Amino acid sequence: MLGSVDVLGSIDSSINGAGVVGWLPEDFNPTTFIQELVHNIDDIVVNNKCDSQNYKNNNGEREKIVLGRDMHTVSLEITEPDPDDEVTGEREAYMASVLSKYKKTLTEKTNFHLGYPYNLDFDYDALCQLQHFSINNLGDPFIESNYGVHSRQFEVGVLDWFARLWELEKNHYWGYITNCGTEGNLHGILLGREVLPDGILYASQESHYSVFKAARMYRMDCVKVNTLPSGQIDCHDFKAKLLSNKDKPAIVNVNIGTTVKGAVDDLDLVIKKLEEAGFSHDRFYIHCDGALFGLMLPFVKRAPKVSFKKAIGSVSVSGHKFVGCPMPCGVLITRLEHVNVLSRNVEYLASRDATIMGSRNGHAPLFLWYSLNRKGYRGFRKEVQKCLRNAHYLKDRLVEAGIGAMLNDLSSTVVFERPHDEDFVRKWQLACQGNIAHVVVMPSVTISKLDDFLDELVQNRALWFREGKYQPRCIASDVGINNCLCALHS
Ligand SMILES: Cc1ncc(COP(=O)(O)O)c(C=O)c1O
Repeated sequence: MLGSVDVLGSIDSSINGAGVVGWLPEDFNPTTFIQELVHNIDDIVVNNKCDSQNYKNNNGEREKIVLGRDMHTVSLEITEPDPDDEVTGEREAYMASVLSKYKKTLTEKTNFHLGYPYNLDFDYDALCQLQHFSINNLGDPFIESNYGVHSRQFEVGVLDWFARLWELEKNHYWGYITNCGTEGNLHGILLGREVLPDGILYASQESHYSVFKAARMYRMDCVKVNTLPSGQIDCHDFKAKLLSNKDKPAIVNVNIGTTVKGAVDDLDLVIKKLEEAGFSHDRFYIHCDGALFGLMLPFVKRAPKVSFKKAIGSVSVSGHKFVGCPMPCGVLITRLEHVNVLSRNVEYLASRDATIMGSRNGHAPLFLWYSLNRKGYRGFRKEVQKCLRNAHYLKDRLVEAGIGAMLNDLSSTVVFERPHDEDFVRKWQLACQGNIAHVVVMPSVTISKLDDFLDELVQNRALWFREGKYQPRCIASDVGINNCLCALHS
């Protein structure tokens, strides 16, 4: 109780400046209290519904970044229960109706989702029975903690599966199930920094924002490398930048599928450029960000291999993307020798602290274990082939309809002209950047869903262009002249 009074006291003093510490009055109304604490919405919201910032488009002009609506306008208030709620059952009924409406919304949104790399097609009913447990894998996956409600046996099974996929032997790897691909990047880059403390981080400019976030968090020097129109790292530029920083080791983020264009960096060429620039293997560390394609690439014929037989330090992948999982999660695998540099024993846990988070979601390993066991390598190969086929179908139909589009080899991310109507973008939950948008073809994206989307897009474009207010966007500087079908390039 003492703790809570202190907290209230400090809030009280920050509001009134009086520093009064006391018990809550009988008529205390938490909603008025909280309203005083939250930001004034008008300060941060532009146009009432969405915030917007500027960005420079390819012509150097300032355009607005459209942000989603302000959630405070639709948030579900938590109110104090009435004294007779338990008797009347009113509150239970109210909450049940809110949840049932929410379920309907989720079903609808799931049906119209195309833009983010999430496989929404899964069935984990068999795991419902485990939702009654607070499963927490706090600490190191390989060292049991005194907290017994854990799922380490499943976690290590999943890690073994990924270590085998990326060719690292059982007794030579370490890894853990993360909260998401971002945590995998934060951990992989931290490992690089611990192994090479004065290293410079190199990442292509099309790397995920979490890579640059890691550089800011760890206060690392970071060099952005140019990209080719495909989105791949430009290895000429990479080598030039290495040569001008030869005195410092290199920590390199290699993209196994970029976020926007699904481009896979050429890992072998990256290693070759490091060697050509005079970096011996003990003076560089490579982290492979395989958030989405880390799990697809091994099943694509003729694709370059991500393998610990090459000079790489770590690989991360998101678990909720290609696998499909009801909660965000991910996997990080590294060499055992690297993690020993950053881990510490913790008596309170009876385990070792080697992860970014303390408490760790113990349910996620169960979902991954279940899915990997059901599908196996063969199941994933089939799903990958289906996604690549469907992505080609979408790209071909877009081009047939006169819409500029690009699909990288090895990828199921179809990039095309950004639609002119933000309502259309929101309906299909497309991810946009500047003049381009993309659809990431996942196992849950069927041909019939793509047909519905294409039909609606083509109809809408006819309306957008009818009065000459809009014209097809030029996407040449994003994806190359060959893929652009604007008035100038078609
Ligand atoms: C290339 C890449 N890396 C990292 C991430 C971050 O993954 P997560 O959303 O699981 O944190 C993403 C997400 O889309 C991504 O595309």
